[in-house]
Amino acid sequence: MTPVVVADPAALAEAAARWTAERVERAVAERGACYLALAGGETPRGCYRRLAQPPYDRKLPWSLAFVYWSDERRVPLDDPASNYAMARAALLDHVPVAADRVFPLTQENLPALNTVPKNGAGLPRFDIIHLGIGEDGHTASLFPGSEALNERHAIVRAVDDAPKPPPQRLTLTLPVLNAARAVLVMVSGASKREALARVVRRDPALPASHVQPVDGELEFIVDQAALPR
Ligand code: 6PG
Repeated sequence: MTPVVVADPAALAEAAARWTAERVERAVAERGACYLALAGGETPRGCYRRLAQPPYDRKLPWSLAFVYWSDERRVPLDDPASNYAMARAALLDHVPVAADRVFPLTQENLPALNTVPKNGAGLPRFDIIHLGIGEDGHTASLFPGSEALNERHAIVRAVDDAPKPPPQRLTLTLPVLNAARAVLVMVSGASKREALARVVRRDPALPASHVQPVDGELEFIVDQAALPR
């Protein structure tokens, strides 16, 4: 797996927005809708801010997008720590997404995951899933050593002891991440260098190493600072 390397966080935002826009357009052209799962954390924020600007804000078929999250912190949705709140402020408040097609990852909204088209195994098949990785190699809210990594059937797991605050989270599971048509992992900064190097060589101890769509694309877009020296 060879990451796409860009100069800095601004270039990462640009490249990630372009990658996403192409796949939103393709999903709508081919299937009439786009099922998109957004990520939390700082790195995706730049991509979301870029998608909220021209040409993407008006050019993309936002009204045909269904928006979900790859993970969520269990805090009120208006809490600044909420992944929904981040994506809303950075992107969703600025584009014509239909309010009734936005499904923050909460216990109450779990039935909404049944509206995502399914693959042959009965798993939701997202058109696009965004992910980040942590310094410990976590992705979504799948942390090293977590029992949730062994999940083979459930599409969402609750996590109560995440080492990155807040500890209580909900996360899509590996079978769902790996059922997607396209997964984008965004990685920025020197603090991610070691984790990225280990994930690129598929060190099984790191959760992000287990993201490998069975019938879909996997792209890593990373900045120079995150590359091993
Ligand atoms: C979260 C995440 C998490 C995140 C990584 C990277 O809710 O915390 O979705 O998986 O993407 O921790 O986060 P940063 O980009 O902030 O380092």
